[in-house]
Amino acid sequence: MNDPAPKENWIRAYREAPEIFDAFSRAEDPAGLVARRLLAHAHLENCKVLELGCGTGRYMRELAPHAGTYIGIEPSPNMMALARTTTLKVATQPLLLRGRGESLPIQTGRVDVILAAWVVVNLREEVRDRVLKEALRVLRPGPGGGIWLLENHWDSQFQRYRGRGAEDELRLRHLIDRDGFRMVEVVATELRFPTSSEAERVLGYLCGDTMLNRLRRNPTCVLEHRVALLHRPA
Ligand SMILES: C[S@@+](CC[C@H](N)C(=O)[O-])C[C@H]1O[C@@H](n2cnc3c(N)ncnc32)[C@H](O)[C@@H]1O
Repeated sequence: MNDPAPKENWIRAYREAPEIFDAFSRAEDPAGLVARRLLAHAHLENCKVLELGCGTGRYMRELAPHAGTYIGIEPSPNMMALARTTTLKVATQPLLLRGRGESLPIQTGRVDVILAAWVVVNLREEVRDRVLKEALRVLRPGPGGGIWLLENHWDSQFQRYRGRGAEDELRLRHLIDRDGFRMVEVVATELRFPTSSEAERVLGYLCGDTMLNRLRRNPTCVLEHRVALLHRPA
């Protein structure tokens, strides 16, 4: 049997240390390749876009200016508070709502595009099924639109440093084989921190000892990272 994935602290950061998650989010894909590739595939113009688990607002800042209207849903009040400040200067002001993907405060068939970035794969299977069902409920039927997911590809230096890979591959394959998603593109990007000690501080907190020990043995401020873009029509 495979070893279990190392214990990580993402949920603790969402609740207690959103600034640590925000430092991670600013290091992730600093050139904004992922948003650019998403915009090349998904047409947001004049659309009502709903982002599930918008965190501290990274994709709201990058995508809201390209959408008709943009709503972000987030369960953690601390993440939301930071998102409010980081999106203050966004031209198309996103609407931020407190809530969870499995119970959306939105009427049936009112949304054109749903995005969830690093939210769905890590949910418990039963919660993930409810989130996907709820997403399909609020989506307007018809061509275009649908659900876009951004997730870690299983094969990258970042995943190897975390001691993850096999379990994440299974979870992504489940979305493809069972939930009707298609892997549209894998974007090769990086995590780039200002210094190697900042990489240790942020990744050590979020990803725990396996990551920290690897970073201490091989100090670096840049890790190769690959992002899977998945899509499922409405
Ligand atoms: C890895 S963070 C990603 C944040 C943001 N999407 C980004 O890419 O910067 C995951 C986010 O999903 C939120 N989340 C966790 N469970 C959720 C659920 N059931 N429904 C909606 N959001 C959830 C967390 O609070 C957290 O903000």
